[in-house]
Amino acid sequence: MTTGFTRRQFARAGAAAGLTAVLPRGAFGSPAPNRKAVIRADVEIGLVRPEFHSHFAEHLGSCVYGGIWVGPKSPIENVEGFRKAAVDYLKELGVPVLRWPGGCYADDYHWREGIGPAARRPKRVNIHWGNYVEDNGFGTHEFVRFCRLIGAEPYFAANVGSGSPQEMRNWIEYCNFPSGSALADERAANGSPEPFRVKYWGVGNELWGCGGNYRPDGAGAEFRRYASYARTFGGTKPYLIGCGPGGNDAKWTRGFMDALAGSRLPDGYSFHYYENGDHPPLEFTPHAAMAQMNIFRQVERAIIEQRELLDSYGNGRGIGLFLDEWGVWDRIPKADQDRNGALWQQSTMRSAVAAGLGLNIFNRQADKLYMCNIAQMVNVLQSVLLTDGPAGKNCVRTTTYYAFMLFKAHRGKTAVRVDPGTLTYDGPNILDGEPLPVPSISASRQGPELVVSLVNPRADQDMEADCELRGVRAKQGRAQILHDSDLNAYNSFDHPDRVTIQPHEVAVEPGRLRIVLPAMSVATVTLDVE
Ligand code: AHR
Repeated sequence: MTTGFTRRQFARAGAAAGLTAVLPRGAFGSPAPNRKAVIRADVEIGLVRPEFHSHFAEHLGSCVYGGIWVGPKSPIENVEGFRKAAVDYLKELGVPVLRWPGGCYADDYHWREGIGPAARRPKRVNIHWGNYVEDNGFGTHEFVRFCRLIGAEPYFAANVGSGSPQEMRNWIEYCNFPSGSALADERAANGSPEPFRVKYWGVGNELWGCGGNYRPDGAGAEFRRYASYARTFGGTKPYLIGCGPGGNDAKWTRGFMDALAGSRLPDGYSFHYYENGDHPPLEFTPHAAMAQMNIFRQVERAIIEQRELLDSYGNGRGIGLFLDEWGVWDRIPKADQDRNGALWQQSTMRSAVAAGLGLNIFNRQADKLYMCNIAQMVNVLQSVLLTDGPAGKNCVRTTTYYAFMLFKAHRGKTAVRVDPGTLTYDGPNILDGEPLPVPSISASRQGPELVVSLVNPRADQDMEADCELRGVRAKQGRAQILHDSDLNAYNSFDHPDRVTIQPHEVAVEPGRLRIVLPAMSVATVTLDVE
């Protein structure tokens, strides 16, 4: 916000925010030596790929039907059948890549049922998410059109579980072959003479579970078979993503990769990591919130270890690591699901902090990752938008939406090293034998701009972060924050703007920045540097 802020001014700002009582001693008067991080703007990690901020939409609950897709005849304002408010909000957020149609749903999805005149598409039972009937009104053309409307690159998850290599191979031809083949001409007849040029193709989803209950070697063997028929059409080379484990399962990755010896390796390799919570979304206690935040340590370790495993295989270094599904998965009340669809989950201040922890990890591990997809885009799990069911007209931007907004400034910049040093809290760092979550920080730089994101995941302590800047001199800076003193605060249909991004005070000196982080907050500081 300011340059050359005096200590007194900084203290006044903190007091105005009601924070001084809980801040560590020495925060405003003298430097707080136990609160120091070092931002090494001169030590580069790697590109913050915009794809780290990608999304996932499944035919599940009201994510697609009733959420994204309301149909062209709906009384809800829509663009060609897509909920207009969702299109507008997602365009503003920027969605680099969108993965579809599942999830487990993809493991039983037959793409041919979702093309051609809508009235003639077969009705199918969604066996994974409640045995309800879908009319296939949202298929390949609708998905690609939606991606184009919001500016996202489409990513198809192909069916291995109940599908075949031929089905995937034909889907690729249907999408990408320019013209003259029966499949390409069918696409043209269905309204899209131009090929879709779909690059990302997932070879199955959760093959160890809903994707066919494979063992890792069997899944590897399936990858070999499917990859044999996935071809380049019209210059679009399919980028094939092999199916990795749930969590940090080294045995799966070894078994899968060993089975590929001597054959084509995947271009990408995906794993899933949900951060489960044992409370309903609106009833988290500080203790339960901290337990959920702690899972992120394991996520970071998983990224490092899965990367090391891939790198240990011949050309494994070239394989892009995908965190294909991630996000908080709370204990969702049945009433919410009955009212709004399966896995409809409210996003709270705690969820936004969780998003901040994840996004900070992706920056810090930028050299190891290729893409990360939050689960899921609308109405399901840690969504960025909530709608109130198929009949509703409301569309609310969740706390998670705003957390992603706060990290947008990192996209395309180069992540630089941050030594968290002694950025710690007062008092014990262990509770019930478990380490308590620690403050989280990451930074990225491009030319004259350095962006620093900080997360305070503790529900019981505010803190002042004191960051030394190395390799650059700051001229001035601005900060924004997402915070609510209630960790269960959320944006509702009645109060859609309860938790939104606010300007925040930051004290900037040429070699230093200081910022007060209230308990449960996510902040981003943008510095003009030389
Ligand atoms: O995102 C919900 C489900 O979680 C997905 O369908 C599946 O891939 C995972 O188990």
